[in-house]
Amino acid sequence: MNSSLFRLPFPLLFIFIFNLASACHVGDRNALLAFKSAITADPSGLLSSWKSAVDCCTWAGVTCSVPNRVTSLSLYGQLDHPNAFLSGTISNSLSNLPYLDSIYLVNLRNISGPFPPSLFQLPKLLFIYIENNKLSGQLPAAIGNMSQLEALSLEGNRFTGPIPSSISKLNRLTQLKLGSNLLTGSIPIGIQQLKSLTFLSLERNRFAGPLPDFWGSFPELRILSLSHNKLTGKIPRSISALAAKLSYLQIGHNLLKGNIPDFLGTFRALDTLDLSSNHLSGVVPKSFRNLTKIFNLDLSRNSLVDPFPELFVKGIESLDLSYNKFHLGKIPKWVTSSPIIYSLKLAKCGIKMKMEDWKPTQTYFYDYIDLSENEIRGSPVGLLNRTDYLVGFWGSGNKLNFKLQDLRIVKRLKYLDLSRNQVSGKVPGAVVVLEKLNVSYNHLCGPIPATKFPATSFLGNDCLCGPPLPPCK
Ligand SMILES: *[C@@H]1O[C@H](CO)[C@@H](O)[C@H](O)[C@H]1NC(C)=O
Ligand SMILES: *[C@@H]1O[C@H](CO)[C@@H](O)[C@H](O)[C@H]1NC(C)=O
Ligand SMILES: *[C@@H]1O[C@H](CO)[C@@H](O)[C@H](O)[C@H]1NC(C)=O
Ligand SMILES: *[C@@H]1O[C@H](CO)[C@@H](O)[C@H](O)[C@H]1NC(C)=O
Ligand SMILES: *[C@@H]1O[C@H](CO)[C@@H](O)[C@H](O)[C@H]1NC(C)=O
Repeated sequence: MNSSLFRLPFPLLFIFIFNLASACHVGDRNALLAFKSAITADPSGLLSSWKSAVDCCTWAGVTCSVPNRVTSLSLYGQLDHPNAFLSGTISNSLSNLPYLDSIYLVNLRNISGPFPPSLFQLPKLLFIYIENNKLSGQLPAAIGNMSQLEALSLEGNRFTGPIPSSISKLNRLTQLKLGSNLLTGSIPIGIQQLKSLTFLSLERNRFAGPLPDFWGSFPELRILSLSHNKLTGKIPRSISALAAKLSYLQIGHNLLKGNIPDFLGTFRALDTLDLSSNHLSGVVPKSFRNLTKIFNLDLSRNSLVDPFPELFVKGIESLDLSYNKFHLGKIPKWVTSSPIIYSLKLAKCGIKMKMEDWKPTQTYFYDYIDLSENEIRGSPVGLLNRTDYLVGFWGSGNKLNFKLQDLRIVKRLKYLDLSRNQVSGKVPGAVVVLEKLNVSYNHLCGPIPATKFPATSFLGNDCLCGPPLPPCK
């Protein structure tokens, strides 16, 4: 009597009926299949579940929220996985997904073509993240038409030309990320209309002209990255308006000059500050004592002078003061006592000490230690014996004096530079696991073990011999 449908156990019946109701809209399915057909290579099978016989709301990366209408497309490649990429272009068929509110095409690496014009036809689109692909050409002049957008990230593509002035119309944006492209021109003044921004990154482009002075317009800004451009002028006064909330400020690798302003010390939420590789001069303000939350501080490669203020930060994680005009004398106490530091770079900081006298509270987290070009005597053997996870140790241009064969090559070590010291003994076979080695200009002697390192890694010693140097006698 019962139809076969009603003989299904109740939960299965429920799923069956629910699926009938939510099966993907045929127009959406066709739009996605056309998107797939513009993909020319998918070696890891990111789209292998996209089959017309299967409900498209169940395909990998597809979400239907409005019943049976596609609202989100999110495809992620994996940068560390050589096959997890997609080749091809972004089909215009996306314009036939009228309910789409977010598109994430991230780390797919080999998607090319221009900024997809289809995105202009999607009135519900709020979030665009097309990151780490190969899109190119100019950003469309009409980009400001998408005034409903809340996030726009085109980071890691090959866009050229200026940021269109219509960007000023995207005033609902909370995130604007255009880093790692080939954009030129100056930073458009219209960006100051984007008053809801919490995240602005324009780093790694070719922007020139002065660092704009419009920072009073961004009450919510937490992350600001403008590093690796050609921005000129001084650190503008209006940046002080960001003091309450900014946690991340990167303006390194530009052409900025003048002093580091006192007001940066009032940025209580700041955890990352990168001013490296500019032309900044003068002293580091005393107000930096108040940066108690700073985890990452990079002031390297400027022309900053003594005295360096004593900081009260509990745990610095990474510090780079290298290549300024400092004479620190010793490694600061607030560095030595940090329980979490993993990267310490104090090259050419005027440090005069015996290596053994440096007794860091913690050595477990250290990945990188660069103490090159100082006046450090003694032996790093004890230190390297305690830094089990060290990846790089740079100590060139000091007065280190120890037997190289006593140095433990810890298991993760890849880079070791001890050139221009007073190291004696012989080169141990254990160095073959390193990626880079430099022990030139020391007092080493004896045959060099078989390695891939060039002759310049070994030149200038007392009596090293064998390949890549001349044969032993
Ligand atoms: C990347 O895409 C281009 C153009 O579509 C293609 O010629 C090239 O073979 C692709 N690269 C890989 C690794 O598949
Ligand atoms: C942008 O808006 C203008 C004015 O409404 C319109 O003329 C133009 O066609 C639009 N451009 C795009 C790409 O949508
Ligand atoms: C640190 O902040 C306190 C409180 O705001 C202030 O009184 C003091 O002057 C600041 N210290 C420095 C060195 O700027
Ligand atoms: C290295 O560490 C081991 C054990 O952790 C210890 O026995 C040895 O004496 C240390 N060597 C040096 C040179 O500090
Ligand atoms: C090793 O260091 C010397 C002197 O610091 C330098 O001239 C040489 O280029 C370096 N070689 C390598 C392979 O790093």
